[in-house]
Amino acid sequence: MLENQLLKIAQDLGSPVYVYDAAKIESQYKRLTDAFKDVKKLKLNYAVKALSNISILKLFKSLGSGIDTVSIQEVQLGLAAGFSPDQIIFTPNGVSLDEIEEAAQLGVKINIDNLSILEQFGTKHPNVPVCIRINPHVMAGGNANISVGHIDSKFGISIHQIPHILRIVENTKMTINGIHMHTGSDILDIEVFLYASEILFETAKQFKNLDFIDFGSGFKVPYKAGDIETNIEELGKKLSSRFNDFCKEYGKDLTLAFEPGKFLVSESGNFLVKVNAVKQTTSTVFAQIDSGFNHLIRPMFYGSHHDIVNISNPSGRERFYTVVGYICETDTFGNNRRINEITEGDILCFKNAGAYCFSMASNYNSRFRPAEVLWYNDKAHVIRKAETFDDILRNQIAIDFSKKKEKPTTV
Ligand SMILES: Cc1ncc(COP(=O)(O)O)c(C=O)c1O
Repeated sequence: MLENQLLKIAQDLGSPVYVYDAAKIESQYKRLTDAFKDVKKLKLNYAVKALSNISILKLFKSLGSGIDTVSIQEVQLGLAAGFSPDQIIFTPNGVSLDEIEEAAQLGVKINIDNLSILEQFGTKHPNVPVCIRINPHVMAGGNANISVGHIDSKFGISIHQIPHILRIVENTKMTINGIHMHTGSDILDIEVFLYASEILFETAKQFKNLDFIDFGSGFKVPYKAGDIETNIEELGKKLSSRFNDFCKEYGKDLTLAFEPGKFLVSESGNFLVKVNAVKQTTSTVFAQIDSGFNHLIRPMFYGSHHDIVNISNPSGRERFYTVVGYICETDTFGNNRRINEITEGDILCFKNAGAYCFSMASNYNSRFRPAEVLWYNDKAHVIRKAETFDDILRNQIAIDFSKKKEKPTTV
């Protein structure tokens, strides 16, 4: 998508606004399926949490994707987008048995990562097949908050507890139809995937009724020029070959599943904001924008990098700016960034704003959440309207304090 097309959207619809490029989502989906073309049965389940707009889900459905969900609401969203229950896998963590039963009743695939819940679910519903999320005890991921497969993590059932899983299966007569892991996000080194995969294969051997092995996700995308990314093509070659060998050994063509979020949508996203003010202090030039971490929390939450481009003045002289938001706390998007000269009213574009950006947005400071636009077939489609003041007040209940308190009656 071109910068002048983005600029026109900001001018027509106002800012802030998220814009997603459907062609980039399609090409990433194709890149991943091409990388694993040697596997007979491949299933990509897009991780809804990354970007959950219903039109984005419908786009994934049109590509042949399934979805990975982590809450009953994401399951319901997937059904509303037209996915059939067997195209949806429910991979929650720390939810109640009730929520898992509700998902099972809707007919979606169930993934359990807790021994106690597994035992209770298997006892009550021995006829519902279940996938198990294993914790392979591998340290992987871009930072501590997104490294979820290590020994101290709350996710998954430890590989050291396989005998316990087997006892539960034996006692309840439940069926385990899948084995799953997800070790973290932003994993650079494909050797980490391959190492963790070996643990998954070893585990899989112990379960005789599998239909699929789900290798989770965590593919790292580039955030700036020259940035390292997961080598999907090499991973595809190596893991496909190893997977095919495993299937021969296992005696069945299993499905190889992934559940990527970031890889599929991160680079499709552009977040457009307007510069409210340029503020020169004794040490810094701040570009103050009409947004804050309420709309894009990743830099403050994870220290994530998003390239910031001045699309109003693309050939202006480069200067250094610290780009900050309007939230009443430290709210920095980028420190000392080299950006084409900024004047008040300019439109800046945050790159890689597809994954975990809008989906983590909030109304903090009672601000509206922005509109979302999908650029599809050379046209801008509004896929979410910007919020209005009614949305801020919706569900709030105002108590009338003007009424005088009644005096207690004395007996
Ligand atoms: C269980 C699970 N699967 C898939 C994903 C998607 O990961 P990514 O966005 O890195 O592809 C996550 C991310 O947190 C996850 O927790």
